[in-house]
Amino acid sequence: MKRKLVAPSILSADFGRLSVEIEAVTDAGADWIHVDVMDGHFVPNITIGIPVVKSIKPSTPVPLDVHLMIENPEKYVEAFAEAGADYLTVHVEATDDPESLLKKMRDLGVKPGITLRPGTSVEKILPLLPLVDLVLVMTVEPGFGGQSFMSDQLVKIDRLRKEIDDLGLTTLIEVDGGINQETAKLCANADVLVAGSFVFKGESVEDYKNAIAQLKGGAND
Ligand code: DX5
Ligand code: ZN
Repeated sequence: MKRKLVAPSILSADFGRLSVEIEAVTDAGADWIHVDVMDGHFVPNITIGIPVVKSIKPSTPVPLDVHLMIENPEKYVEAFAEAGADYLTVHVEATDDPESLLKKMRDLGVKPGITLRPGTSVEKILPLLPLVDLVLVMTVEPGFGGQSFMSDQLVKIDRLRKEIDDLGLTTLIEVDGGINQETAKLCANADVLVAGSFVFKGESVEDYKNAIAQLKGGAND
């Protein structure tokens, strides 16, 4: 089975020491840094925004994987692209015209991603696959870290894998929510694992390194 990428979600990091935390997970082997942007409208939580993305960009050489859980993403994608997002992912539920938005994002120079809530049918994003570099499957209800993995979402990963392979695309499949050493093993058909609490529950670079290694190892069992 191919090797997974691991993207620690800084939602569970110590925000008072954010650049130190990002340097630590980078040293511990993070492939990407996952950045959860929440606006208090699309989801019932508020996290961070454009200035923070800009400030953390110099803290790591690995790609910033920015997950927008916001209403009206059309208004903000340009600012996130300028702030340094490498992958930029929007929710299909947050826009009336995902095709135009994803094309605009590619023109802005980011790698576009699409995602969906657990309650949204995977059929809704299948026609968008040729327009994106990344498809993110949510395995918790978006809004908070530390929730339990919803295994009923695994069928979406398998469906997407088949569709992507049938179409001959290179689109990456990312899984986000409730990922730990055990649930990582269930995501055989995914390429990228996001993990917040499982990584940041550690207290040192050594702990972070072990957690990331466990995810990669667990995913390859
Ligand atoms: C939830 C976020 C996730 C979250 C994952 O809305 O999109 O990225 O940080 O946290 P864990 O890994 O703790 O479930
Ligand atoms: Zn996320």
